[in-house]
Amino acid sequence: MFVHVKDVTRTFGGVKALDGISLAVKRGEVHGLIGPNGAGKTTLINVLSGIIAPSSGEVILDNSPVQTLPAYKLAARGVARTFQNIRLFPAMTCLENVIAGQHLVALRPFFPRLFCLPSAGRQEKEHRRQAMDCLARVGIESKAHFPARALSYGERRRLEIARALASRPRLLLLDEPVAGMRQQEVEQVGSLIQSLAAEGMTILLIEHNMSFVMGLCATITVLNFGRTLVTGNPNQVSRHPEVIEAYLGASENNA
Ligand SMILES: Nc1ncnc2c1ncn2[C@@H]1O[C@H](COP(=O)(O)OP(=O)(O)OP(=O)(O)O)[C@@H](O)[C@H]1O
Ligand SMILES: [Mg+2]
Repeated sequence: MFVHVKDVTRTFGGVKALDGISLAVKRGEVHGLIGPNGAGKTTLINVLSGIIAPSSGEVILDNSPVQTLPAYKLAARGVARTFQNIRLFPAMTCLENVIAGQHLVALRPFFPRLFCLPSAGRQEKEHRRQAMDCLARVGIESKAHFPARALSYGERRRLEIARALASRPRLLLLDEPVAGMRQQEVEQVGSLIQSLAAEGMTILLIEHNMSFVMGLCATITVLNFGRTLVTGNPNQVSRHPEVIEAYLGASENNA
């Protein structure tokens, strides 16, 4: 899916969370979104996934303006996301959590299920098989029948990705996908993202883990106070003096 954000603004009361943001992401590209806390990164993903509407500006997905569409309609068009603060059903198994992700876009016909027709059983099996595939892709298929709350923090993040994949998205929005993960998990998620992009999925990801972003993204947009500081390849971005001051420098100070 091709993404074009044009001059998007979003205000909350007096706060300009997004202040004239424009960016373009090609199909199959991994695009990074970085910037200090409160820069507007999550707000941009909220706008792209239809959770909040922009105050002004346009969001174009594959040539159609979508800025007025609600989240469920964007999901049906192939947009999926994960959340910065993990949102799972803790008492449900991992498999059930992923199946819930499929339901976002694949509402199953009611009558075959009501009358227990064989086609409904076949569909159920197919959904379970696809959900297992998603769990396998993120490397937690052995936990399929565990409740989500029994997983480690990193595994829960991976389960969120599996749930997003269940809707077979063409645009995947990841809000800090490797936050709190062990290095080995970070690398696994990195290779997963690379293979999804190679299959043609467009990926926009927010991350504070700089080596992860730099190693994975073709293009990076740096936000600061709701504005774009710079867009460029990892090399251009990491050399930009304002980025060093506003973000890289700040994170070094925090370390
Ligand atoms: N629903 C909301 N209501 C009011 N203010 C909001 C809302 N969502 C975001 N904001 C404000 O908009 C600004 C941008 O927030 P946002 O969550 O997009 O930042 P972020 O770049 O994702 O930061 P972080 O790295 O801490 O996750 C902040 O000042 C935040 O307080
Ligand atoms: Mg955020």
